[in-house]
Amino acid sequence: MARTTSHIANIKLASRGRLLIEWAEKNMPVLRLIRGRFQKVKPLKGYNLACCLHVTSETANLMITLKAGGANVALCASNPLSTQDDVAASLVKDYGISVYAVNAENRKVYYQHIHRVLDSGPQITMDDGADLVSTLHSKRKELIEKIIGGTEETTTGVIRLRAMARDKALLYPIIAVNDSKTKHFFDNRYGTGQSTIDGILRATNYLLAGSTVVVAGYGWCGRGFASRAKGMGAKVIVTEVDPVKGIEASMDGFRVMPLAQAAGIGDIFVTLTGDIHVIRKEHFAKMKDGAIVCNSGHFDVEIDIPALEKMKKKKRTMRKFVVEYTLKNGRRINLLGEGRLINLAAAEGHPAMVMDMSFANQALSAEYLIKKARRLDNRVYVVPAEIDDRIAALKLSSMGVRIDRLTPEQKEYLDSYVMGT
Ligand code: ADE
Repeated sequence: MARTTSHIANIKLASRGRLLIEWAEKNMPVLRLIRGRFQKVKPLKGYNLACCLHVTSETANLMITLKAGGANVALCASNPLSTQDDVAASLVKDYGISVYAVNAENRKVYYQHIHRVLDSGPQITMDDGADLVSTLHSKRKELIEKIIGGTEETTTGVIRLRAMARDKALLYPIIAVNDSKTKHFFDNRYGTGQSTIDGILRATNYLLAGSTVVVAGYGWCGRGFASRAKGMGAKVIVTEVDPVKGIEASMDGFRVMPLAQAAGIGDIFVTLTGDIHVIRKEHFAKMKDGAIVCNSGHFDVEIDIPALEKMKKKKRTMRKFVVEYTLKNGRRINLLGEGRLINLAAAEGHPAMVMDMSFANQALSAEYLIKKARRLDNRVYVVPAEIDDRIAALKLSSMGVRIDRLTPEQKEYLDSYVMGT
């Protein structure tokens, strides 16, 4: 196996990581098919890919697929708490892939790892949250000349990149994997829905049935989480700033109210907004004794933790991932996973079944970039519809589900504007 430069926690964990990678692979049939074709055709041959993603068993399967396609891949973490050290070890030892990621690395090491991955001199970037792209544009500009394009995995990253493109600050084309239907309808909704519950339960062992769960943000992630919490018997309250989403949450059967009102009612608060300081001082001040607060958005900014720090009389770590803050008013607030995305901090992120489609989009977008990049402008593109549809068809067939085809008459009807009543 090729020697690689890496920085990981412990290479001895590789045998455990290898089994986890194999376990995830069983539920990634679309990615497996792509890997089989990549192995034969080598569409990424000789390209250097710099990847900044959550280092999980699902991501490992993507890395192996890209390598099978002929790419040289280097991987770092897109969040300091999400790295699975055993998986990282196996990627290095068993698959010869460069990995720079250690679970619970501090901010300084997190950015050092991004720089090490950039040292590989990428032609393609694959990002989740846009920290890699932003570091490249602010600190490693000299590398941009060689880059033909990049992909972005998540809503938060796409928002950042669109802001860069709007200000003409984006210096190469990016494909917004997040925006393809086979990504956000499933990964954001069912993936975040289930894995956020998983993270909260692993951290707290709390009973959701009968408890009041406040969901801040009713985008695809918020919708998914609210519906799963409701399914487990929680009384769900949604808070929103977007009137359309407010109507939708209301018509989906949830109580909708301002966070200031929900603050005194909730037992568990979850932020899934992508915005800063959604839960603030005035909300903490109203919370019940024992309230649980966590975040499932990409960055750890949604909960105003500095405000909570200022309000505290004392704090204790009650269990792994749970820090209890006793406020000066005597009430206790439990912050989970340091306010970092709880589904990856305390659990394992989205299940392989949905990451299969997300990462199929990533692999095929990398291939598309190589074919088309010279003709793309420096802006954010959606994944071409043919790729999205192909992934959907493959997933459906892997699930053993068949659907109907339009008859020639139906096709003609849809193409025609003549036929009316
Ligand atoms: N984002 C959310 N869940 C994930 C997972 N399991 N692997 C990689 N990225 C993710």
